[in-house]
Amino acid sequence: MSTFWKGLLIAVTFIFVVTGGSLIWLQWRLDQETVTPLAIANPNGTSGKALIVYQPGLSSFPKKVIAAFAEGLVASGWQVWTTTASSQAPAAVASYDLIVLGSPVYADAPGKALARYIERVADFGRRPVVILLMAARGAEHAIKLTEQMVAKASGRRVLSLGLTTMKPNDEANKYTGSNTHRAIQIARDTGRALQPAIH
Ligand SMILES: Cc1cc2nc3c(=O)[nH]c(=O)nc-3n(C[C@H](O)[C@H](O)[C@H](O)COP(=O)(O)O)c2cc1C
Repeated sequence: MSTFWKGLLIAVTFIFVVTGGSLIWLQWRLDQETVTPLAIANPNGTSGKALIVYQPGLSSFPKKVIAAFAEGLVASGWQVWTTTASSQAPAAVASYDLIVLGSPVYADAPGKALARYIERVADFGRRPVVILLMAARGAEHAIKLTEQMVAKASGRRVLSLGLTTMKPNDEANKYTGSNTHRAIQIARDTGRALQPAIH
């Protein structure tokens, strides 16, 4: 084999190994569960007790959206418990008045850690559930899948919200500032206005 063909073979093999390795790493990373302690905000809130369980993403967007939604709940008097979707997250939800499930969208589906959490809960006992998904371009299909999972686990879905980084979040209204900033505002406002939706 000539030096040229040998070089080409080495280059192609190298590209395959690096690409394959990166894809395997990405798949592994997306399936990972993040364990965080259950944190409470507004312990004296009188509107009710909310549990937020979310899968963080590779970027800071999902975490910021969830934090804004939690701020909105706190602003309207909720006691808010927040943790990430893992085997350590509370699977017994009977003591909560509201459950918020959050995740990035991967391949048109909710993240695996969140899906596993819903399976682990298995029975939401008809408690009100909010679904909050973060995507680049569209969360519609992932929302449908998550709604099916929640329904299967006897959750009473009261609201589903998909927020995007690359598609305008509020086409009806002109707004200044970035699209992700608008997403965060929408999350905060939705959390604040949630109370009537759950009754
Ligand atoms: C492997 C992978 C698959 C994704 N699939 C979708 C998808 O199907 N639809 C979509 O709108 N966004 C998709 N996204 C974008 C994320 O949903 C988006 O960036 C989200 O707002 C935050 O997730 P991240 O923090 O992990 O990037 C994907 C991202 C990654 C890394």
